[in-house]
Amino acid sequence: MSHAPERKGRPMTLARLAEKKALGEPLAMVTAYDYPSAQVAEEAGLDLVLVGDSGAMTVLGYPTTVPVTVDELLMLAAAVRRGLRTPFLVGDLPFGSYEVSDEQAITTAQRFVKEAGCDAVKLERGGTSVQRARAISEAGIPVMGHVGLTPQTATALGGYRSQGRTAERALAVIRDAVALQDAGCFAVVFEAVPSALTEMLMPRMDVPVIGIGAGPATDGQVLVFHDLLGIYDGHAARFVKRYGNVREQMVRGVSAFAEEVRTRRYPEPEHGYTMAPDEIERLQAEMETDRVRTTSSSLGTTAEPTGEPFTGGFSL
Ligand code: KIV
Repeated sequence: MSHAPERKGRPMTLARLAEKKALGEPLAMVTAYDYPSAQVAEEAGLDLVLVGDSGAMTVLGYPTTVPVTVDELLMLAAAVRRGLRTPFLVGDLPFGSYEVSDEQAITTAQRFVKEAGCDAVKLERGGTSVQRARAISEAGIPVMGHVGLTPQTATALGGYRSQGRTAERALAVIRDAVALQDAGCFAVVFEAVPSALTEMLMPRMDVPVIGIGAGPATDGQVLVFHDLLGIYDGHAARFVKRYGNVREQMVRGVSAFAEEVRTRRYPEPEHGYTMAPDEIERLQAEMETDRVRTTSSSLGTTAEPTGEPFTGGFSL
């Protein structure tokens, strides 16, 4: 049974994304990694949601995005799908899950669609990724490209640093972006590139461009959910703007709970369940006869522990 929040509008489609670009309507995209973050994205009316491999760091605690597996991201993506109806859902292909061959790329992309219900997948870099993007797209699965700072290969790029800051390096970013578009990508992410480079590249981009640290000229912007809400306490890149400090609130709330437990201020009467006075009286009478220790009582309970596992259902 789906508990996704009620649909606010029509589900986003590739045609509608292209239409929004044509009309100059900015696209808002956020990452999500679980059911509640998906519900938040739904209610906030986002256009696209990305189950980013950034989840490796923000929710799985890996030091980089590199170690996360397909199965781990599929589990996160499936949870997001259950909380989402309207935004276009993109699943990130993890490092090592698409580079080896077209067959590998198509097989992994198909898993994101079949097993997690994603509408599309995203892969990083130009180079051989361009051919993988073409193969996935020709297999009928929409693909999003990603150029500039591509965290899966940050070591080769010299670390987590902005890209395309010399004319030569900028040309490499431009070539990658255009090649991904020509390979059939429905959109491309530009990450951590100079705003001036984005401005020069935009006239050549017919598909929507989503920026993250790429300046204001793109067709849309994306931020990592945990960064923008202040849930993740790791390093925040220059392009991160905090729209909340949720982690602080979470620590405050959980600390208050612990404090109230330790000082016996929680639970209060309203947090407990009541029993009718006549039932209490009957129970007291039963217990006074001491029968409760040895046999099933007339109340229909077996008070003596039996060692059997508890199988009763909850009715709260
Ligand atoms: O994994 C991720 O969150 C991303 C975004 C930064 C675009 O790829």
